[in-house]
Amino acid sequence: MRTYLVTGGAGFIGSNYIHYMFEKYGDEIRIINVDALTYAGNPENLKSIENRDNYTFIKANICDRAAISKIFEENDIDRVVHFAAESHVDRSIKDPGVFVQTNVLGTAVMLDCARAAWEKDGVYPEGKKFLHVSTDEVYGSLPEGDGYFYETTPYAPHSPYSASKAGSDMLVRAYMDTYHFPANITNCSNNYGPFQFPEKLIPLMINNALSGKKLPVYGDGKNVRDWLYVADHAKAIDMVQEKGRLFETYNVGGHNEKQNIEIVTIIIDTLLEILPDSDPRKANVSRDLITYVEDRKGHDRRYAIAPDKIKKEIGWEPDTMFKDGIKLTIKWYLENEEWMKNVTSGDYQKYYEEMYRNR
Ligand code: NAD
Ligand code: TYD
Repeated sequence: MRTYLVTGGAGFIGSNYIHYMFEKYGDEIRIINVDALTYAGNPENLKSIENRDNYTFIKANICDRAAISKIFEENDIDRVVHFAAESHVDRSIKDPGVFVQTNVLGTAVMLDCARAAWEKDGVYPEGKKFLHVSTDEVYGSLPEGDGYFYETTPYAPHSPYSASKAGSDMLVRAYMDTYHFPANITNCSNNYGPFQFPEKLIPLMINNALSGKKLPVYGDGKNVRDWLYVADHAKAIDMVQEKGRLFETYNVGGHNEKQNIEIVTIIIDTLLEILPDSDPRKANVSRDLITYVEDRKGHDRRYAIAPDKIKKEIGWEPDTMFKDGIKLTIKWYLENEEWMKNVTSGDYQKYYEEMYRNR
């Protein structure tokens, strides 16, 4: 039985990936999920699978070398899928230190421990693979309506978040070049779907609209992001480990560019369409809630992925079109009010007030 070590599996994409893998492979695989359970890690995301015999959760920080090497010593790990990271740009602008710590140093620990467990006299046993989950934000910003990010696009990160992810990508590249370390890097565009923490655009707007709070659109609202349904990202990661060439980088994206203001209006219109008149939340939802606020510092104008390589070499294509994915996502949040209540109680209030006070 193949054993996966997943880091950050209690977060948004990691938990969706774990669900995807168990749905696809059932009892054929074993997953060990290592997560520090920061504000972004939520064991509730994995409630439906937590009692499986082939699933183990370990609470540990990826910067804790002793804890991570112990996991490798006690388990014969075949695949590492490394999601764990600080992931929110606005938080990185306020407090960059923890981004360097987790994203750069934590990745270095993961690479070291995997290499120590796997390498013998410069050779790695067949089948051992490390996949580093990264972002298209490492490539910087594109001009409006012109060009795409390719795997060959030079790195030009602007935020502390993207700079720390670029640093971690470079470390993975260095391990591949120096030690022949068996890895892949995937650089994916913005994800959306169930279990996303409401500090990010889509769940924040859904949550605010339902409670009649203003919808804070940064700057002129015309920044463009390239949105991908999260299950399609999970599928891409699995396909890269199954069919990709080792040592290669693959860009992942579904050609779905939208301005932020378009996203916000789609959310409002979809909520009004889906919510029955009898639902008291419907009365709160209105385009009048849209409020243009102070722009994000260093705000990247446009992201757009060219997914040609992963399509051509591996045959990956997204299954979910945005018009369907956004409905699925909104329905999920409507049906999981309790999840939203739990994650927005306590510290979230403080975060929200601090982050949006002057906006
Ligand atoms: P997330 O913030 O929802 O989840 C991150 C998870 O990592 C949480 O469970 C958290 O507890 C855990 N974690 C954080 N620091 C840790 C540490 N030091 N040790 C152990 N665990 C720790 O993030 P996400 O949106 O699911 O992103 C996952 C990965 O995918 C990240 O590497 C991110 O850079 C990348 N990515 C995200 C997107 C996106 O749109 N969200 C797009 C492309 C790539
Ligand atoms: P976000 O979800 O934080 O992802 P990223 O910055 O990693 O792309 O933001 C997506 C876009 O939405 C980005 O251009 C910033 C913008 N945005 C707002 O306009 N208002 C908000 O409250 C948030 C959180 C984001």
